Amino acid sequence: MAIRKVGVVGCGLMGSGIAQVAAASGFPTVVREVNAELLDKGLKSIDKNLNRLAEKGTITEAAKDEIRGRLKGTTKVEDLQDCDVIIEAIIEQLPAKRELFGALDALCPPSTIFASNTSSLTITEIASATKRPHRFVGLHFFNPVPVMKLVEVVRTIATEPAVYEEVVAFGTKLGKTAVRAQDSTGFIVNRLLVPYLLDAIRALEEGVGSIEDIDKSMMLGCGHPMGPLTLLDFVGLDTTYYISQIMFDEFKERRFAAPPLLKRMVLAGWNGRKSGRGFYDHSDPGNPKAIKF
Ligand code: CAA
Repeated sequence: MAIRKVGVVGCGLMGSGIAQVAAASGFPTVVREVNAELLDKGLKSIDKNLNRLAEKGTITEAAKDEIRGRLKGTTKVEDLQDCDVIIEAIIEQLPAKRELFGALDALCPPSTIFASNTSSLTITEIASATKRPHRFVGLHFFNPVPVMKLVEVVRTIATEPAVYEEVVAFGTKLGKTAVRAQDSTGFIVNRLLVPYLLDAIRALEEGVGSIEDIDKSMMLGCGHPMGPLTLLDFVGLDTTYYISQIMFDEFKERRFAAPPLLKRMVLAGWNGRKSGRGFYDHSDPGNPKAIKF
């Protein structure tokens, strides 16, 4: 069975990006948010992205209208009923995800494939809330979704091989490079990225270098587009703290343990760009300034 129609649950940062990419790749796409206000916010961010692409000449005005025409927003979970694949990108909380998939399982035909964009929860545990763990995968995108070229396609021990191959092919149709990963906490990218980000905080705690110098070192010494502390502000310190706790809980290895400074910054509400302050002060978004501790 080929995937023709795409459903996305959640129209936040990740969900809106996934919906935009699916519609831009030619798929009729339905994106669902819990209320009209959040839906409107998500659809506006997609419009902003598409307008910017049209202004730059990356896409034509006609293509922009076609993409927007393929995209339908809704607050009703029932509107996802006829989608061939449903990608969940809601809050990173296991009970919320299990509840959503339980409801979708009762609503959708047995052929519908379910996918979660979780970055750290166990796919097997989310899938076990449904009667179709064999049609359940992880589909982990990266922020900003329209720009980042990778998608991790995650299989559990229960995922049917034919379903898995279909989703790998779907990831490629979305214009991404699809890599294959097992349902191991953090998959491939966060297994490697999270200890690196946590080590950058430990280096700062130990006075190895300043915020600016740690960031410059990895950008200019290793060719990374962002230094680790800038990337932490971009991903969100609360998000990274949460992922590190799940990874530490799974592997019990120090490299996944949150450094005390990260915990304190999150407790203080310094969550990075989205809160205006992390390792940098973002009150002037075009000119972030390193925090003095
Ligand atoms: N949405 C859509 N497009 C965006 C965007 C956004 N939020 N941000 C930037 N872009 C586009 C710009 O329009 C620009 O497009 P053109 O080349 O067509 O003009 C392009 O991306 C480059 O942007 P900029 O010139 O403004 O800035 P940049 O060169 O510094 O790139 C960046 C910005 C792409 C974010 C780059 O800094 C980068 O790759 N950073 C690393 C991001 C990263 O590592 N993401 C993964 C985080 S981990 C994760 O997501 C998973 C997890 O589980 C935690």
